[in-house]
Amino acid sequence: MTIRIPYNRVTLTGSELAYIHEAVERGHLSGDGSFTKRCHEILQRELGVPRVLLTTNCTHALEMAALLLDLRPGDEVIVPSFAFVTTVNAFVLHGATPVFADVRPDTLDLDEKQLPRLIGPRTRAVVPLHYAGVACEMDSILELARARGVTVIEDNAHGLFARYRGKLLGTFGALATQSFHETKNLTCGEGGALVLNDPQFLERAEILREKGTNRSRFFRGQVDKYTWVDVGSSYLPSEILAAFLLAQLESRATIQAARGRIWQRYETELADWARQSGVGLPHVPEHCEQPFHIFYLMLPSLDARTRLIEHLKARGILAVFHYQALNLSDMGQRFGGRRGQCPVTEDVADRLLRLPLFHGLSAEDQGDVIDGVRAFRV
Ligand SMILES: Cc1ncc(COP(=O)(O)O)c(C=O)c1O
Repeated sequence: MTIRIPYNRVTLTGSELAYIHEAVERGHLSGDGSFTKRCHEILQRELGVPRVLLTTNCTHALEMAALLLDLRPGDEVIVPSFAFVTTVNAFVLHGATPVFADVRPDTLDLDEKQLPRLIGPRTRAVVPLHYAGVACEMDSILELARARGVTVIEDNAHGLFARYRGKLLGTFGALATQSFHETKNLTCGEGGALVLNDPQFLERAEILREKGTNRSRFFRGQVDKYTWVDVGSSYLPSEILAAFLLAQLESRATIQAARGRIWQRYETELADWARQSGVGLPHVPEHCEQPFHIFYLMLPSLDARTRLIEHLKARGILAVFHYQALNLSDMGQRFGGRRGQCPVTEDVADRLLRLPLFHGLSAEDQGDVIDGVRAFRV
């Protein structure tokens, strides 16, 4: 059966190809040209933060965060077990020992109530991942982190422009990371950003991103030549990608509004079926404004999920799941992960299913998805 309705499809919003054409015509396609600067300006202004640096992806922004922590052997970083691999791997790659926290059953966010038990003398950072862009309980996380001298790094790959108690996600931690991967609300295929809220990291972040050199200071005329001053790598995206991303950033209101309509239609039209079938729908607490990134169904069992995937596939619809419990992965077990350690994650990882959601999803196609789901007997 061919897939007629994909899980995600990149949709042009208008200016993407014109901007790429303009970038090519300017003859400057490496990083940090005018399109990158315009993306930086929009993100800094919208988030109200001192500095944002585009990166080649969110994974690299997480790696930069890990490097900025200057980790020593034995240093620990607390991560949710229900997470993307690189939320954890980026820190492990740069020397951290991961400590897995389970997630809350309602929002699937890192369970803040576990932190007092998990924070120890070696804890350097905690990484709240705002699952589906629905905020973690930042008040308690920040209070505890401050009291225990632990750095907060938000993995905000899902949550650009979402809010917690009125404040934008990505503005709480000393550092935050964004993703512009093709599955995200705003995209350039592969892309990301590091949000720098704590000024102490600004200068070093620029150096890490520019291969360990002070090239950014040179371009600003602050030094008369640039040289190797620290470790680093090459984390800046090409202007072609920044040109694509700028168009998406400029259309953010249209994109978010379209996703909001799609998300709300799923919620309204699947509510009765879900109640009758014992299927859970996403929970968004009152004090959280979500970005309509993911619409998921929480099936009663792995078997029901597998059957629903097949049932939709037979209708040409692709529904997907993620994440696998990281504490049970091969790598996670090397760090002491074991079954039973994160019961909520281990349970929901088998039961969650994401429905197609992208701003170009037509009303007719969404209707087919809804009909397909409603026709399924759990
Ligand atoms: C929560 C989370 N963090 C990080 C990433 C990594 O993003 P990227 O693909 O931009 O490296 C993803 C990717 O899907 C993600 O879902």
